[in-house]
Amino acid sequence: MNRLKCLLTAALWLAVSHASAGEVEVLHWWTSGGEAKSITVLKEMLEQQGYTWNDFAVAGGGGESAMTVLKTRAVSGNPPAAAQIKGHDIQEWASLGFLTNLNEVATTEGWDSFIPPMITDVMKYHQDYVAVPVNVHRVNWTWANPKVFQQAGAKIPTNLDEFFVAADQIQAAGYIPLAYGGQPWQDVTVFETLALDMLGAQGYVKAFVDLDMKTLSSTQMVEVFTQFQRLHRYVDGGAPGRNWNVATSMVIKGEAAMQIMGDWAKGEFSAAGKQPGKDYVCVPALGTAGAFIYNVDSFVFFELNDHDSIQAQQVLAKTILDPEFQKVFNLNKGSIPVRTDMDMSSFDQCAVDSMREFKSSAKTASLVPSVAHDMATTNYVQAAIFDVVSNFAADRTADPREAAQRLAKAVKAAR
Ligand code: GAL
Repeated sequence: MNRLKCLLTAALWLAVSHASAGEVEVLHWWTSGGEAKSITVLKEMLEQQGYTWNDFAVAGGGGESAMTVLKTRAVSGNPPAAAQIKGHDIQEWASLGFLTNLNEVATTEGWDSFIPPMITDVMKYHQDYVAVPVNVHRVNWTWANPKVFQQAGAKIPTNLDEFFVAADQIQAAGYIPLAYGGQPWQDVTVFETLALDMLGAQGYVKAFVDLDMKTLSSTQMVEVFTQFQRLHRYVDGGAPGRNWNVATSMVIKGEAAMQIMGDWAKGEFSAAGKQPGKDYVCVPALGTAGAFIYNVDSFVFFELNDHDSIQAQQVLAKTILDPEFQKVFNLNKGSIPVRTDMDMSSFDQCAVDSMREFKSSAKTASLVPSVAHDMATTNYVQAAIFDVVSNFAADRTADPREAAQRLAKAVKAAR
């Protein structure tokens, strides 16, 4: 009897203590194999500390669908506790008064001392922390299946000229040269990589950060569209609408030779048990070695009234920058830690190279923000660029000169 009483008391205590610890509902779009594995690490670490994680996953790479759902929830006065929001959008949500201030946890944990200022600047609104960064993704990568290259007698390309030589050989050998997903954010992911190659970092910034009309409609930009169109000859008929991770799996399975994609693609290779340098190879995409298009994931926290949930938000924010979380999460995700003080010895060569180039490109002004991933400009201008580039990509007969003109006009109207 006594034992039963003890058990009941313990159960009751557990239930009470569980209920009193806060809950967080977390909106994100990490639903592919590698992404889901990564976000689960955060969920588990929060649960280990006695808090409840309510998963609010909205599928769709790049997060467009997630943002639409979030807006509806926030406008109806029922936002989640936390949401994956990045770059310029952080400022926008903060300026509307939705976000909670994270200064207390940031000061206690010393965030300013181990996160680069170029990132903390984006996480702050008027000097106050309103977002917490998770990682740094590099966008300009090529992911290659070395066996397919070997079969085709081709060399993994490091620049555009080499790409076209290899692509012809791969096509002749009966494989798909480029695994591609025809969705606006993926089109722009590839397009911005070509733009970095052809305009250089300075020209890239002039076009997509300064929104300089001359650069947007320049002959170099016409060339970017021309090469982008040429590249589409090496894409299979199933590309329109294809999800990015399905394209990655084509490389994993050896149906396609390579994919140009950010290093979240590495998360898919890892989740499939593949080894870098053996089963797959990462090389800086087409002529962009030494330069780095960055994409920093981050979470914001919405203003809530409930004390327990507020506490859970603080714990979640702290956990995201915990060194152990930074290590395990980024190993799964394919990105590099956002903390600059991390020991990189357990990371693979792709991540080590990425960290090295992240640091060195900052010194040579070759570190540039991604247009496709909300880093370079407002979401209005981004939407205009998405429109022009994806319409161009969908029409094989489109004129590159007209496209560059259209790009400049659309950006001008949206800024
Ligand atoms: C990006 C995001 C990455 C990645 C990708 C595909 O915008 O920053 O973390 O998961 O979308 O969903």
